[in-house]
This record gives sequence, structure tokens and C-alpha cells, in this order.
Amino acid sequence: MIESKSFGKTAAGAEATLYTIKNNNMSLSLTDYGAHIVSICVPDKFGNIKDVALGFENAQEYSQDNYIGSTVGRFANRIEKGVFTLNGKEYKLAINNGPNHLHGGMEGFDTKMFKAECFQNSIKFSRTSPDMEEGFPGNLDFSVTFTLTDNSVVIEYEAVSDEDTVCNFTNHAYFNLAGAKSAETVEEQIMTVFADGYCETDSDALAIGEIKPVRGTAMDFRTPKKLGDCLNSKGCYPIDLTGGLDHNFVLSMRRGEFKKAAELYCEKTGILMETHTDQPGVQIYSALHFGDIVGKGNTKYPRLGGICFETQGFPNATSFSYFPSPVLRAGEKFTSKTEYKFFVK
Ligand code: GAL
Repeated sequence: MIESKSFGKTAAGAEATLYTIKNNNMSLSLTDYGAHIVSICVPDKFGNIKDVALGFENAQEYSQDNYIGSTVGRFANRIEKGVFTLNGKEYKLAINNGPNHLHGGMEGFDTKMFKAECFQNSIKFSRTSPDMEEGFPGNLDFSVTFTLTDNSVVIEYEAVSDEDTVCNFTNHAYFNLAGAKSAETVEEQIMTVFADGYCETDSDALAIGEIKPVRGTAMDFRTPKKLGDCLNSKGCYPIDLTGGLDHNFVLSMRRGEFKKAAELYCEKTGILMETHTDQPGVQIYSALHFGDIVGKGNTKYPRLGGICFETQGFPNATSFSYFPSPVLRAGEKFTSKTEYKFFVK
């Protein structure tokens, strides 16, 4: 069942809608403004319903530039100095994060209105990103479809360009399995990441083209570990450099295989979330810049107050030929799928 209601006006004055898909077990709310996930409500071990996705009350509040729950495009993560070369031609993108390009630029997909089509238990958001939007070549027909199953949220991306281009899409939901209204950090929550390596970064969190083993570092989550053990560790070079988790974990070197990337578990609520994806990487970001953001229900989100599992191609893949290619050839269809599954333990 899908319900829809007004979500107010965006800062630019567009009328946004809030859509809620419900079944007997859970519900998912989305808006056509930035194709954001607004909430994901699941039962906890006491049978109470907990919203586990951070977010805001209306479209106006989503106009702040912080990507909470947003669809990210055309290119998730950083591109060094916002420059890439394709077919021998150099393209210059918007620089919006220190010296680099981040998450599609000044006005990425998170700021755009999407056309919404409702189906039985899914909603398809689509838009055409015009040629040279934020500096990217080609008119790109893009859609993202969110489906609510009995125990999961499935996200499917599709894109076709009329010129060769590059792309990398993700969703930027911040999860807190203690509840979005708990105002707690995720330090006590237990994470597993099915990755042997991560992309080394510089101090701007830009991937510099090296893949390092997680073995022997605070980034080793191959067996379940409290997030706080990593986030509060000292002397681990990658963590010291970025001040916490803001790294792409290497799931494989190719796209296509649908696999479990990560698990997150909260003892207090008994909620367990699994992230599955066909993408080669997952950027795990631990809300390092939070502190002053006030979300749904007037909740102040603390630093480390949520965690993102941004499934994607490798960051800065435009700069390294040995990274999985982010090139989308004219007329070819890009597809990718991610699923967040919820259980009670
Ligand atoms: C993440 C990124 C972080 C930060 C965040 C948005 O994907 O890796 O460094 O920019 O998005 O605030």
C-alpha cells in the first residue's frame, strides 16, 4: 500500500510529496525531492516500531546541504580536483569539497525534483540530467526504484546516456539501529564488513588509488566488532587521517555479483541490518560532521550519530585505470542494485 501527502515546498519553491509504502512488517517513506529516503520503520525485539533512518520533517529542511538519505549522482564520492579525461577530452566538474568534486557537484541529484511513479510496493523516481550538468557529458536518463519487501528495502538504479560519460550512484541514508530519535551515537553498535581491503585516502578523504589490507588495522571488521573500537582508536593511520570512518571498503574488483557487504547490529533494540549489493565498493561514513543538525522529532544528531553504507563504484575511479571503470558508453544501460535487509535477533 502506498500513501502520499504534501511534504511542503523546497527552498527553491517546488512542491514536494512524501510517499509511504507499508506492509505488515515495516514501512518506507520517500520524497520526490532528491529521491530521499525519509524513514525506514522496522520492529525491534520488543515488537515496538523503530525508525532507523535519520532524516527531516519536510522538504524545506532537506534543502540543507548534507545528503541525509539522498540519492547521490551523477558521481558519488570524490573526483580529484574535479577533473577527468574521457575519449581524450578533459572535463572540468564543479569543485565543492575542498579542492575536489563531491557527490555530483553544487547541485547534485540530492537537490533535484524527480518524477514519481507508484507501483504496488515500489516507487520509481526518474529525471533526465541534461548534457554538461555540473560538467558531466551526455543527456543522462536516470531512474532509481525503491521497493519494500517483507523485510527489506531494495534500491535499483538505471541510467542511459546519449554520449559516453562517467557515473556512480549511491544512497546516502544514515542508519542508527537504536532509532533515529534516540540521539545516541553508533559507537555501541556492532559492525561486520565483508572486505579484506579499503581505499587509502588523503586528509581530504580523497581515494588516492591505493588499496590497503584491513588486516592489522582498526578498519578490520571481518569479524563483528563494536564501532566505537574503531572510531575511538588512536594510532591507526587511516582513522587518524580522517578522524573516523570515511572509507571505501573493497568488496571485489568487479561489478555484478550480488553479495553481502556488511552487517550492523544493535543489542539494545535487537535490530540487525544487512547490506547487499552488486557494486564493488561500500563507502562507510560515520557522521563525522554531525553535531548541530536537528532532525525528525527535534532530535539533535550527535557526531557519530549515524552510519552510511554507500554502496558504489570505487571513489575517484576516473583517475585510476586499474579501478573498476566508471565509464558508461553511449546507449548502454547502467544498472545496479542494493538491498538493506532487516531482522530481529
Ligand atoms: C560521504 C563522504 C564524507 C562526507 C559525507 C557528506 O559520502 O565520504 O566525506 O562528505 O558524504 O557529508
